[in-house]
Amino acid sequence: MLIDGQGRRVNYLRVSVTERCNFRCQYCMPEKPFSWVPQENLLSFEELFLFIKVVIDEGVDKIRLTGGEPLLREDLDKFIAMIHDYKPDIDLAITTNGFLLAEAAHKLKIAGLKRLNISLDSLKPDIAAKIAGKDVLYRVLAGIEEALEIGLNVKLNMVPLKGINENEILDILEYAREKQIKIRFIEYMENTHANNTIEGMHGREILVKIKERYTIHALGREGASPSFNYRIEENGYEFGLIDPHKHDFCENCNRIRLTAEGHLIPCLYFDEAMSIAQAVKEKDINKASSILAQVLRDKPKENRWSEEELDSREQSKRAFYQTGG
Ligand code: GTP
Ligand code: 5AD
Ligand code: SF4
Repeated sequence: MLIDGQGRRVNYLRVSVTERCNFRCQYCMPEKPFSWVPQENLLSFEELFLFIKVVIDEGVDKIRLTGGEPLLREDLDKFIAMIHDYKPDIDLAITTNGFLLAEAAHKLKIAGLKRLNISLDSLKPDIAAKIAGKDVLYRVLAGIEEALEIGLNVKLNMVPLKGINENEILDILEYAREKQIKIRFIEYMENTHANNTIEGMHGREILVKIKERYTIHALGREGASPSFNYRIEENGYEFGLIDPHKHDFCENCNRIRLTAEGHLIPCLYFDEAMSIAQAVKEKDINKASSILAQVLRDKPKENRWSEEELDSREQSKRAFYQTGG
């Protein structure tokens, strides 16, 4: 079992399979980075899988593939099948922007994928284009439709931004409710890679918008999830709010992150990481395990997106497109 230095059990690994993305979201990667990680520095799926087997053997039962945009990585379905075949009952999911999903969904499902979280920031083509840097809406909606059609479990993520999509919170909630899928509203997490003119909405401002139409009841968190859930009295629909500025979910944090080049990251906020690249290239399981033990021992207690620190502290330098959110 994996236990970190704060006594928390880690059972969730997020693997970013590529930092590349076909979107340029304002809150993540508004400009193409000066350079991408060179192709030869990426770990192969076999190398990543070597590490994945180590953590599964240690009790990790939830794996999420992220990016950048994970569907840009060739043969993603084969990687999913490798993990699924090793532990068929694993909670195996991806987080995607949905652009390439309509074509890929069937192959992913056959490979063993169970769940998908898809970003949906707007239902207006021009606003969606403004946020993502290109015309994306119809393909994303087609991806959502296809995933639902073939029976994949879908959740939606929306990052409300002031003056951009803040007036669409209720529309997106209704869209998700009609489709009977869960939406989570995410507070924008400030970071040095984002467009520095955007301003996120605070969780309580998001709730105010929803309360303009509905009475809502707080349900609490689902286990270690960063999402705090609410139920709408009028129709029973449940939605989530991911509010890292409160960071009270950190006390139950159950996750670590692995990047495409083999950096093992203990916390989304901080820059610290250790590389398992050499260990897996040398197929040295003991070395990979001891790096993992060190990362777990040093896993921070909480992130620093807290409200008290918002004005005074430096911004997170972590790129969401490298860590996969
Ligand atoms: P489920 O397994 O469906 O609960 O998904 P998830 O919330 O773990 O995955 P997803 O990729 O959809 O995450 C949604 C967003 O939650 C991420 O992009 C981050 O913005 C935020 N998030 C997830 N984990 C953490 C975390 O450990 N710390 C912080 N601050 N935010 C997180
Ligand atoms: N703040 C909050 N959420 C973010 N995401 C990416 N960057 C940020 C940020 N700066 C979210 C996206 C997507 C997930 C992968 O991460 O909305 O749902
Ligand atoms: Fe790409 Fe996701 Fe970042 Fe948007 S948030 S640029 S879709 S990695």
